[in-house]
Amino acid sequence: MIRAAFDAIRDSAPAVLPSLLLCDFGDLKGEVARLAEAGTRVLHLDVMDGHFVPNITYAMPIVEGLRRHTDLPLDVHLMISDPLTYAKPMVEVGADLLTFHVEAVQDPVETAQRIGELGVAVGVALNPKTPLEKLAGCESHVDMVLVMSVEAGVGGQQFAPVSLEKLRALKDKHPDLLLEGDGGINANTIGPARQAGCDLFVVGSAIFRRDDLDDYGEAMEELTAAINAAGGKERMGQS
Ligand code: DX5
Ligand code: ZN
Repeated sequence: MIRAAFDAIRDSAPAVLPSLLLCDFGDLKGEVARLAEAGTRVLHLDVMDGHFVPNITYAMPIVEGLRRHTDLPLDVHLMISDPLTYAKPMVEVGADLLTFHVEAVQDPVETAQRIGELGVAVGVALNPKTPLEKLAGCESHVDMVLVMSVEAGVGGQQFAPVSLEKLRALKDKHPDLLLEGDGGINANTIGPARQAGCDLFVVGSAIFRRDDLDDYGEAMEELTAAINAAGGKERMGQS
């Protein structure tokens, strides 16, 4: 029941979603177990095709392997040029939420509708330089909008504050729409993102590049504490 998985994603908010890009791919099963132990409720998978973005990561075989080793919902970020071609194969190997980039498609509304017809939850992502107008109304046809706070393609970049204005504008216009932020999110930037209306926080280097912390649990606690300090459980933007 894929929609049940999306309900679990929505119900996890506000939540930190570790991004599987900077993790130890030589021990993926162990990494997922450690992340679950650290309190992770949703995994964010960064799929890159080396065409839409100048980086190549992984696709269906890894998603299928992850599916066999975790019940956590899989939030799959498609940084690829042809999301419609790979949507069905991704659903078949266990993706629970598929997010395509508005910059990669001609017709975002049609793309959202056709991915949604597969029974999977649908997200649309936009890079920092892409104005909200490019969504062309597809936000009414998706389950989530992913507001990138870095240019898609690489972990470890600096947070782009323009994402805060977009989060605020989206939350004002669509108070019930689930919003996800991704890129440069750490203990300093997660609070402003929360106050701008973000519900799900994708984190890479602030979890996986932390020599100052002993385990992923400490990073998750630090990030969750920063969310709570900024506005905790209640959904922002609702009167
Ligand atoms: C970048 C990915 C992000 C990235 C986040 O293209 O979509 O999920 O891995 O990494 P940090 O948190 O290090 O910016
Ligand atoms: Zn991502």
